[in-house]
Amino acid sequence: MDKPKVVITRRIPDEALEIVRKHAEAYLWDSEEQPIPREVLLQEIRDAAGILANVSDRIDKAIFEGAPRLRVVSTMAVGYDNIDTAEATNRKIPVGHTPGVLTETTADLTFALLMATARRIVEAADFLRDGKWKSWAPMLLTGPDVYGATIGIIGMGRIGEAVAKRAAGFGMKILYHNRTRRHEIEERLNAQYRSLENLLRESDFVVLLAPSTPETYRMMGRKEFDMMKPSAIFINTSRGQNVDERALYEALKDNKIWAAGIDVFEHEPAPPDHPLLSLPNITALPHIGSASIATRTAMAVLAAKNLAAGLAGEKLLFCANP
Ligand code: DGY
Repeated sequence: MDKPKVVITRRIPDEALEIVRKHAEAYLWDSEEQPIPREVLLQEIRDAAGILANVSDRIDKAIFEGAPRLRVVSTMAVGYDNIDTAEATNRKIPVGHTPGVLTETTADLTFALLMATARRIVEAADFLRDGKWKSWAPMLLTGPDVYGATIGIIGMGRIGEAVAKRAAGFGMKILYHNRTRRHEIEERLNAQYRSLENLLRESDFVVLLAPSTPETYRMMGRKEFDMMKPSAIFINTSRGQNVDERALYEALKDNKIWAAGIDVFEHEPAPPDHPLLSLPNITALPHIGSASIATRTAMAVLAAKNLAAGLAGEKLLFCANP
C-alpha cells in the first residue's frame, strides 16, 4: 500500500526523520534557518495526510481548509498557540505536542537568563570585548544577588516546578501564582501561593511561565509592571504574547523595574531595531529555551511518534486538543 504523504516544515534530526519515513512519504522543507514559505506549505498540504510543524509555522483555518486529506498535525513544541486547535477539533484532527522532554532544559535556560540579567553577564562580556575595562572598580557592573532573593513564578506547570527546584538550591524564597494551587509543591519546595498582585509586589525576580491563551494575552501590562519593585527583574521564557511589550519598554526605560531578561517576543523573529533591544537593561535571546542538542532531538522524535500514531489512527502520545 502507498505510504501517505506528510509535510515536514523544517530540517529535523535524522533520528526523527527516519521514524517519519517508516510511515510516510515526506516532503521536507530542508532548511535550518528559513521557515517554509506560506505558498509552499499551502501547495504541499493539498494531498498531505500529516504535518510536522514547529513554533514558527502558523497552522490556521486556511491550512485546514487547504488540506482535505489531513489526519494529524504534530508540532515539536510544548506550546501550540500557533495552531488553531479549535478548528482541528471540529475536523476531528488530533494535534500532537511535546511536553515533558523539554522541561529541565527550558528551566536551565530560564535560570541562566535570570542570573545573566541580574549579574549583567552579557553587558560585562561586551564591556571587556569593547576595550572599556580600565580598572577594577568597587561598584563596576554590580547587580542584585540571586542567592537568598525572592522569586515569584507565574505559571506553576512542569517548567515552573523545575525552575522552583533550581531556586530552592539558591536559597531563594519561592512564591508562585497559578490557576490552581499546587499543595504538593508548596510542601516539597516550601513554595508559597500568592495572588498575582501580591506576587508582583513581593518578588525580587518575577518569572513568567504561563501558556499563551486568550486569558493570558498581555497579562503583564503597565498596571502589573507598576506593581513590581523598582529593584525587581522580570524574566519571560513563555510566550511574547503574554506581555505588553510597549509597557515593558516603558517600565525599563523609566526605571520602574530594574531589568528584564526575555527569550520570546510577540512577533518572532524580532528585528534588530526592535525598541526593546535599544535598552541597556534588557537581556534578550532568540527563543532558545529548549535549545540543547539532546532536547531538540527528543522533541523532534516525540513529534515524529505523534505524527506516526495519528497516521495510523491511534491515540497520540501527547494530544493538545481539548
Ligand atoms: C515550546 O516548546 O513551546 C518552545 O517554546 C519551543 O521550544
